[in-house]
Amino acid sequence: MKPKTIALDGPAASGKSTVGLKIAKALNYLFFDTGVMYRAVAWAALNKGIDPKDEVAVTTLAEETPIDVRPASQNDGRTSDVLVNEQDITWQTRSPEVDANVSTVAAYAGVRAALSKQQRRIGERGNVVMVGRDIGTVVLPEADLKIYLDASAEERARRRYDEIIARGELADYTEILAKVKQRDHIDSTRDVAPLRPADDAVIVNSDKLDADQVFQMIMDMCA
Ligand code: DC
Repeated sequence: MKPKTIALDGPAASGKSTVGLKIAKALNYLFFDTGVMYRAVAWAALNKGIDPKDEVAVTTLAEETPIDVRPASQNDGRTSDVLVNEQDITWQTRSPEVDANVSTVAAYAGVRAALSKQQRRIGERGNVVMVGRDIGTVVLPEADLKIYLDASAEERARRRYDEIIARGELADYTEILAKVKQRDHIDSTRDVAPLRPADDAVIVNSDKLDADQVFQMIMDMCA
C-alpha cells in the first residue's frame, strides 16, 4: 500500500533533501525539510545578537518567532521558502554562520519541543515526505515508511565540496570533512532526540549510489 507519511532521516549532507524532494514530486506529496526550521531559529538568534549558547534566550525566541515553510516560490535552487516574521530568509539559512551554530540550538529541549509540535501538525495531515533527524523516532513515530539515509562522512564531505566548487566558489575538503564530523557528533550525542535510525527504519547507505538510484529504491518501497 502506498505510504501516506514518509519519514526520511539521516546525517548532514546524506542527500535527504535531493531525494526527498524527488519522491514528493513523484507522489504529488508535500516536501517538508524540518532542518530549515532549526536553521531559521539559529539565523533569528544571530540576527538579534542573541548568543546561540544562551539556551533560555534561544528557547524563548523559538517559542515566539513565527517561522513559515512554504513550497518554493522561486526557481533559484531552493527546495522551499523559509520565512521568519514574513521575511524571506531562505538563503540566509545556508550561511556558514548558521551552519556553525545550528547544531547547538537544535540540541535545546525547549527549541525541539516548539518546533516538533509544528512539524507533527503538518505531518499528521499525511501526503507528506518529511526530512530531518528525528522524524521516524520522535516527530512521526507512526509514519508509514521510515527511511534512514546514511553515507560515510568522507563521501558526504566530498558531495558538499563538489557542490561548492560547482557554484564557482573556493572550498577546502579537509575543513568541510571536519565540520561534517563535528555536526554528526553534536547531532548524535545530544540528550534530546539524538540522530539515530528508528527501530523499524529501512537503512539505505548511499556511498555507492547516486541520487537517482536512491530515489528508485525508495519508490520501489512505495509501490
Ligand atoms: O538537515 P540540516 O543540515 O538542514 O539540519 C540543520 C540542523 O538541524 C542539524 O544540526 C540537525 C538539526 N535537525 C534536527 O536536529 N532535527 C531535525 N528534524 C532536522 C534538523
